[in-house]
Amino acid sequence: MSVVGTGYLGATHAACMAELGHEVVGIDSDAAKVAALASGTVPFWEPGLDEVLQRGLESGRLTFTTDPADAAGAHVHFVCVGTPQKADSPAADLTQVHGAIDALTPVLGPGALVVGKSTVPVGTAAGIADRVAETGARVAWNPEFLREGHAVEDTLRPDRLVFGVRDPQDEAVLREVYAALLDAGTPLLVTDFATAELVKVAANAFLATKISFINAMAEVCEATGGDILTLSAALGMDPRIGPQFLRAGLGFGGGCLPKDIRAFMARAGELGVDEALMFLRDIDDINIRRRQHTVDLALEALGGQAVGKRVGVWGAAFKPDSDDVRDSPALHVAAALRAAGATVTVHDPRAVDNARRLFSDLEYADTPAGAASGADVVLLLTEWRDYRDLDPALISDVVSARHIIDARNALDPVIWREAGWTYRALGRPIA
Ligand code: UGA
Repeated sequence: MSVVGTGYLGATHAACMAELGHEVVGIDSDAAKVAALASGTVPFWEPGLDEVLQRGLESGRLTFTTDPADAAGAHVHFVCVGTPQKADSPAADLTQVHGAIDALTPVLGPGALVVGKSTVPVGTAAGIADRVAETGARVAWNPEFLREGHAVEDTLRPDRLVFGVRDPQDEAVLREVYAALLDAGTPLLVTDFATAELVKVAANAFLATKISFINAMAEVCEATGGDILTLSAALGMDPRIGPQFLRAGLGFGGGCLPKDIRAFMARAGELGVDEALMFLRDIDDINIRRRQHTVDLALEALGGQAVGKRVGVWGAAFKPDSDDVRDSPALHVAAALRAAGATVTVHDPRAVDNARRLFSDLEYADTPAGAASGADVVLLLTEWRDYRDLDPALISDVVSARHIIDARNALDPVIWREAGWTYRALGRPIA
């Protein structure tokens, strides 16, 4: 099989397919990425992926190339390229998807199956099927639900598999590809193209809604003296609601949830059902409001004036266990405080190199204490374990003022207050 696109999704998928025993060629136009993967180096931080990659390379079943012609002879071609938000609209930019199909077309023929995994607007799979029809190749849609930081686990032990197919013979091919997972009892849903495409965006829209719901409750808690952590715990104990994705704080970012809900709204508009998804605008607004609220709390701690002040920031990645800084709430807040005139020093265990490429006017430190050094306020913006386990006594002496804003509700306020800090969090009582 071939896997086109070797980012977080494609590199993981290629390595995991080799782990399942398939012969896989990973294809990417980025020569540096291909060279890194071919030499056994994962060019991003994904726990556990390096071992799977190494095993694949050593087995001889996994190779990487920049040349799409090397996909010739493969029976199955997975499309795993990115579908970012367009620069000038909320819709998805499908340039990479169409580029992947263009690159594959010369090697497609009767018997080949193109399997889309990228997150796309509903209707895309049907369009691709029309495009490749003259080669004799067929199309299936098989959305991916992996989370960064858990990508290998989610690929090898997924909650479910969804096959969008037009013909039973294509289902049979996918059953063969995923035989090991199906034998292990992974639930399978076989459906049409549109439903398969929609499952993915609906899942991400639901997850975003859950996060913004709890963050809306956090806003109400702040107005009433309520405590969002207790409220969230109590909601999560109801099995109909469940505890996951009810962590209140700075909200969602990353390369998926924010752009997927916007692209979903844009597609609904094209389909004439925009009213059905109007609520997602509020989900997006609540989410963005969390960032400004965190900036406001920091400004309050700075006495209303950021110019000439120092801000220490813990966390740059959009979530822990990732080095991905795409639409990172943490960097959004850091950049806003920098724009307000503060000197902002950022620490992150993995994401500093990526952050530096995007935000060169922020300072960077190698340790949490380094970022906090001389700070008038410290902000925890991504809840890496490194920060949760920090002893405030070790930080107390390096800061200029003991103010901490815990934008992820990750710290124990009692410990920090006992160490002489003012502790503020989103959705929690002030003292
Ligand atoms: C998300 C989905 O969870 C995956 O199922 C999906 O496959 C993937 O997008 C995708 O479309 O490719 P991911 O972007 O890796 O995965 O990250 P999540 O774990 O969903 O977290 C997203 C954001 O929500 C992060 O910024 C995180 O900090 C935030 N979050 C998550 C909260 O603020 N509160 C929570 O309770 C949970």
